[in-house]
Amino acid sequence: MKKILVTGGAGFIGSHLVRLLVKKYPDYRIINMDKLTYAGNLANLTDIENLPNYEFVKGDIVDEDFVMMTFDAYRFDGVIHLAAESHVDRSIASPREFIMTNIVGTVNLLNAARHIWKDNAEGKRFYHISTDEVYGSLHDEGKFLETTPYDPRSPYSASKASSDHLVRAYHHTFGLPAVISNCSNNYGPFQFPEKLIPLCINNIRHGKPLPVYGEGTNIRDWLYVEDHARAIDLIFHQGIDGETYNIGGNNEWRNIDLVKKLCEIMDRKMGRHPGTSEQLITFVKDRAGHDFRYAIDASKLQNNLGWSPVVKFDEGFEKTVEWYLENPEWLNNVTSGNYLKYYETMYRNR
Ligand code: NAD
Ligand code: DAU
Repeated sequence: MKKILVTGGAGFIGSHLVRLLVKKYPDYRIINMDKLTYAGNLANLTDIENLPNYEFVKGDIVDEDFVMMTFDAYRFDGVIHLAAESHVDRSIASPREFIMTNIVGTVNLLNAARHIWKDNAEGKRFYHISTDEVYGSLHDEGKFLETTPYDPRSPYSASKASSDHLVRAYHHTFGLPAVISNCSNNYGPFQFPEKLIPLCINNIRHGKPLPVYGEGTNIRDWLYVEDHARAIDLIFHQGIDGETYNIGGNNEWRNIDLVKKLCEIMDRKMGRHPGTSEQLITFVKDRAGHDFRYAIDASKLQNNLGWSPVVKFDEGFEKTVEWYLENPEWLNNVTSGNYLKYYETMYRNR
């Protein structure tokens, strides 16, 4: 039985990936290692938690001894590494945690993988999940290619860029079998409501202002989270060691247009008069160093491995809104306690 470690499997993308792998590969043992930070939530996995090929291990990837002991005990055949501090605004407010988890944590995993595979790395793989933000910010034209020079501009993206470089360095220097993918903005169920889409859904539910940074003209390329999980599955099994693959939705939206579309769907689904939610839109102080535009060219993944997104944006966006409306207890649970303090601090001066 192949043993696959997924780090950060209790988070947004990780939980979708764990679900896919556990269901699709009954002959794999999927081990989910997660610290359960504010962003990690085992409630994201209740539908698969009792399946015999799934196991949860609570732990911090920054803890070198814990990581080494776990690798020694399990002798994983593959690692898919998603655990990270992932929210740009938090990285601006307090960068240190990002350096520790995203860089030091990744190095701990790389060292542990190197250690257990030192005698035979045949058929093993370390797969590092990264972001399009490492490439910096685009103007109106062009898209990020795998060959685009790195130009990270926030503490978050700098920490992710750093970890990408380290994964490549371990591949080149030590021959560690490793692949990397860099994906655009994901959306879908189970995303923590500090990120634009679930934050706005939650605020519309409560009739609270929808904080749009700056003039709302920044552009993001949105991909449905299950399409990302499918790409990860494909790259893990069919990607080439040492290669990088871009993953994107080919689906660019200005923030303001996205929020307006969300308002329109929410009004319809909640039986409110058209235009009600749009009145909540409030332009607030811009994010420091706010990247203007991200857009991914995913043609390498499409041409070499045959991946393209299957979920159309209209369909994925409607499904996402429906999920949050049908799961108010999930939203209520994650937005009580510390979330309220976070929200108050983060948006007080905007
Ligand atoms: P998330 O914040 O929802 O989840 C992160 C998970 O990592 C949580 O379960 C958390 O508990 C866990 N974690 C954090 N620190 C840890 C530590 N020190 N030890 C062990 N576990 C720890 O993040 P996400 O949005 O699901 O992103 C997952 C990965 O995908 C990240 O590496 C991120 O950089 C990358 N990514 C995200 C997006 C996106 O749009 N969300 C796009 C491209 C790439
Ligand atoms: O591009 C991939 C990245 O996408 C991932 O690597 C990150 O982990 C993920 O968080 C996401 O980063 P963004 O900064 O693009 O996502 P966020 O949802 O925070 O913001 C999306 C856009 O909306 C961005 O231009 C900032 C803006 N925004 C965000 C928030 C939270 C607002 O206008 N108001 C808000 O309240």
